[in-house]
Amino acid sequence: MTDKTNAPTATSTAGLRGVTAATSSISDVLGEKGQLIYQGYDIHDLAKRSTFEEVIFLLWNKRLPKRDELDDLKRALAAAYEIPTEIVELMKRYPRDADPIDVLRTNVSVLEFYEPNSRDLSREAAIKTAIKLTAQFPTLVATAERIRQGQDVVKPDSSLNIAANFLYMLTGEKPSEHHAKVFDVALVLHADHEFNASTFAARVVAGTLATMYAGVAAAIAALSGPLHGGANTAVMRTLLEIGEVDNVDSYIKKALSEKRKIMGFGHAVYRTEDPRATHLRKFSKEMGELAGDTKWYEISRKVEEVMQREKGLYPNVDFFSASTYYMMGIPLDLYTPIFAVSRISGWTGHILEQYADNKLIRPRAEYVGKRDVPYVPIDQR
Ligand code: COA
Repeated sequence: MTDKTNAPTATSTAGLRGVTAATSSISDVLGEKGQLIYQGYDIHDLAKRSTFEEVIFLLWNKRLPKRDELDDLKRALAAAYEIPTEIVELMKRYPRDADPIDVLRTNVSVLEFYEPNSRDLSREAAIKTAIKLTAQFPTLVATAERIRQGQDVVKPDSSLNIAANFLYMLTGEKPSEHHAKVFDVALVLHADHEFNASTFAARVVAGTLATMYAGVAAAIAALSGPLHGGANTAVMRTLLEIGEVDNVDSYIKKALSEKRKIMGFGHAVYRTEDPRATHLRKFSKEMGELAGDTKWYEISRKVEEVMQREKGLYPNVDFFSASTYYMMGIPLDLYTPIFAVSRISGWTGHILEQYADNKLIRPRAEYVGKRDVPYVPIDQR
């Protein structure tokens, strides 16, 4: 007899598109309008007027901070910038060719060994963990990069905000105000995006009441794929392969005729321009002009034009962040870890939200395999 009890009643939806899996107040993506909001605030307002630290408070607390609350958070973050020396020593033994996003994922697991209270999931303890992770992601990424390049490790500077401190630890030089501001806004733009793959992965893991570190490690794993956060690195590789504005048309047409995807285009939810791309396009131009080389911006604009004409597809967050970071002198394979340096704020916010009103996430599969198959002993198969 086939056991049909508990069998799913609805037909499955490929990739869970359009399925609402839980309630959340953290962010909303309005795909048709091309709008993104964090806790009710439009991303354009936040990009123009807020800071990454203020957005972190907003995502975790459902409201903007008062001045003393923001100062307290900034102090707590800056006080937590440093990572255990044991991790720095361990990183020196990782293979030099390890992918930086895999290094970050591994380091989050290691970091948990130095947090005796990681299994305390109360809001008070979880906020402390969220502060630590958000403060230490930039240090983990920059330190790993310095070690990989055979350079001396630069200790964090607690007088700097997260954006400026990251650029400082990466290059060993205090960034210009302009670079620090552009990077800060990039962090604001990447901070949260509703139930994207990495955030959903974080919530699934947190939903089992596993630790915040476990949820974040799973989120990084999901982010690393080229269809998610890995796309920004792939975009820059494509731009470098194209090489010249004059090559764009033939390159894209050939790629499309071979049914290849052009990274940085299309989106599971947006049906018009990704509002984050609007700001990053501007930064790509600005950073190019500042560096005296607008070639990558121009190639990007041409790719955008051809993709719109040939496929009707718009650029997403990863398209113009690639040339922006390239012009800031950031190595290609750090683009995805940088995404994580920002998104850790959203991941931890979602984990806090999940812990506060938890329900184990356990969907059903629409079974399409055989049923009632008699077991045949191995010698008779
Ligand atoms: N380049 C070329 N064609 C694309 C495309 C791209 N970047 N993105 C989507 N398409 C096409 C698909 O080939 C498909 O065409 P078809 O119907 O003729 O087969 C159609 O558009 C729908 O694509 P699909 O991948 O099913 O849509 P989705 O909603 O699952 O895709 C993404 C969302 C993001 C996974 C997809 O657009 C993609 O792979 N983009 C590139 C990777 C990327 O930039 N990821 C970062 C997202 S922020």
